[in-house]
Amino acid sequence: MTTITNDIHYIGVNDHNIDLFEGQYIVENGMAYNSYVIKDEKIAVMDTVDRHFGQEWLQNLKQVLGDSTPDYLIVQHMEPDHSANIEVFAQAYPGAVICASAAAFNMMKQFFGTDYADRRMIVKEGDTLSLGAHTLHFVAAPMVHWPEVIVTYDSHDKVLFSADGFGKFGALDVEEDWACEARRYYFGIVGKYGMQVQNLLKKAAALDIQTICPLHGPVLKENLEYYVNLYQTWSSYGVESEGVMIAYASIYGHTQAAAELLAEKLTAKGCPKVVVADLAREDMAECVEDAFRYGRLVLASVTYNTEIFPCMREFINDLCERGYQKRTIALIENGSWAPNAAKVMRAKLENCKEITFAEPVVTVRSALTEENKAQLDALAEELMK
Ligand code: FEO
Repeated sequence: MTTITNDIHYIGVNDHNIDLFEGQYIVENGMAYNSYVIKDEKIAVMDTVDRHFGQEWLQNLKQVLGDSTPDYLIVQHMEPDHSANIEVFAQAYPGAVICASAAAFNMMKQFFGTDYADRRMIVKEGDTLSLGAHTLHFVAAPMVHWPEVIVTYDSHDKVLFSADGFGKFGALDVEEDWACEARRYYFGIVGKYGMQVQNLLKKAAALDIQTICPLHGPVLKENLEYYVNLYQTWSSYGVESEGVMIAYASIYGHTQAAAELLAEKLTAKGCPKVVVADLAREDMAECVEDAFRYGRLVLASVTYNTEIFPCMREFINDLCERGYQKRTIALIENGSWAPNAAKVMRAKLENCKEITFAEPVVTVRSALTEENKAQLDALAEELMK
């Protein structure tokens, strides 16, 4: 098992059998469920793992502990990718105390039929637990990403156990760029709760953190400012990269042609980055992450059943649910007899905060005309401002 510091050891697992994380996210490189053990005069285990890996996780724990037994299980988050083995742990170590927030114990009762009333320690913001040299400080992190979440700061080793915060998709035995899969994870799973993440970042800023141990993804030890700055941008709905995302829903290729012509024009005008996404075929979570990454978004949809194409509806819903805001949006619609998509798309986005709609709205009737091409040129010009 990997050693994080002299006393903190990694005992998590990699999942390469998973088809969809949380029942919906494609994870081509699998998933990691992290768990850690702190060895001091008292021994604390930080969270458990997904239900399919209970025995592997217990083996990892035994390998680190030898003949010792843990004194505490700290439960930071009750989503089952981390909590599923609480019962397994409780049976394996009947002398250990379960330590969690009051809300987490309520959920344990729901999941396991018991709230461990005879062997529990309820902790809240500001509480501490001494293990000997190490003192654990508990910090409430409601809605990052469930209401019961606590994160834990070990002031001895200056380690923040950050629960889902700073996590990413991907198993730990696959090397890949951190930001790409952390961004897709963040906007897919935590994106709605920007304000709560901001609150947590404010609390974290008061701590001297040298290592971040999340529940997914790699342990972060170097250049922590880079990760914290990205979290600042994401949670404040700021623009991370200059560029334009064009998301289209096309049936016979004419709406796609409009999207691609606009992309060509933007590139020709020197736009630093243009991302074109076919919403019907690409991973929706990738599309959502790109919409939040760039400052300008173009939505191009056919009119369908007097509304918009289903994948465009899903995309806009995904953005609205996650608090999409502070962006410029341009609209392209297509309709052979009663084009209506632009109006519908605009109405769906009306409640998003600080949205500017770019002009002109381009209406294609079946196929691109010379007039449409001129409109796309004007729109490209507008999006470059
Ligand atoms: Fe990784 Fe919200 O569970």
